[in-house]
Amino acid sequence: MKKIVITSGKGGVGKTTVTANLGIAIADLGYRVLVIDIDFGLNNLDVVLGVENKVVYDIKDVLEGRCRIKQALVKCFEKRNLYVLPSDKINGNSNVSGQNLKLLVDSLCNVFDYVLLDCPAGIDIGFHRAVACADSALVVTTPNIPSLRDADKVVNILKSYKLDKVSLIVNRARGDLIIDEKMFLPQDIQLMLKTELAGVLPEEDAVFLYSGSKLPKKSDSAQAYKILADNVCNNKSKIFNVTNKYSGFFGSIRKCIKKGV
Ligand SMILES: Nc1ncnc2c1ncn2[C@@H]1O[C@H](COP(=O)(O)OP(=O)(O)OP(=O)(O)O)[C@@H](O)[C@H]1O
Ligand SMILES: [Mg+2]
Repeated sequence: MKKIVITSGKGGVGKTTVTANLGIAIADLGYRVLVIDIDFGLNNLDVVLGVENKVVYDIKDVLEGRCRIKQALVKCFEKRNLYVLPSDKINGNSNVSGQNLKLLVDSLCNVFDYVLLDCPAGIDIGFHRAVACADSALVVTTPNIPSLRDADKVVNILKSYKLDKVSLIVNRARGDLIIDEKMFLPQDIQLMLKTELAGVLPEEDAVFLYSGSKLPKKSDSAQAYKILADNVCNNKSKIFNVTNKYSGFFGSIRKCIKKGV
């Protein structure tokens, strides 16, 4: 079983969105996937996966012995090998130890192929608790300076964990701005942070519009997540090209429309 923490440092850059959609894309490859919400108190992974009404027990109920792990797992979408373990929905809280959480995650090693851990923002106890459960990390960043600075800090902190792999996801990339040299190239971000690029995800309205359900298959985001899942599971390094859409004659028209010119 592979245990991957999705982290960022900076808040709001897309960790929960990435955890949910990467979970869906890995499950689509045929693997058994569990996504765990480690963002105690500010949990929303169940909402992004559209299963909040099915949640009866949460991770704290499991850790404190009020239910068995199987009772707390919520199946996402019929016929899919994707489950979510929701987090404590009432108290928030911190008295869950990293060690207990790690034991809980490890107890699932025969049940799932991949466990994705949705980490809270910041670099305090919640972050360390999540990282302690993982054997590799995906650091999500958006292509702007504040987010990159925090991602850099996180990458450095992660070095002390001796994880098998730390790689980068550039989220909310805009091809039109990259072509106009108004946004960093994902490849330059990779060089700045001295960290391998696992994937590039476009900024797209579909991500917001389809929150709580599956992204439309033909959307750029669904394609980008498919490539990311293939990279994560099969050690590949293909990158979704966000500028393609804005190249050539029709591309320049699209770029002008986007700019409102
Ligand atoms: N590629 C994208 N295109 C458009 N919107 C996006 C994209 N990625 C994320 N978002 C939007 O950004 C917002 C924040 O995303 P999300 O909640 O996943 O961030 P987060 O890092 O988990 O935040 P927090 O640090 O608070 O846990 C959401 O409204 C989400 O729909
Ligand atoms: Mg989140």
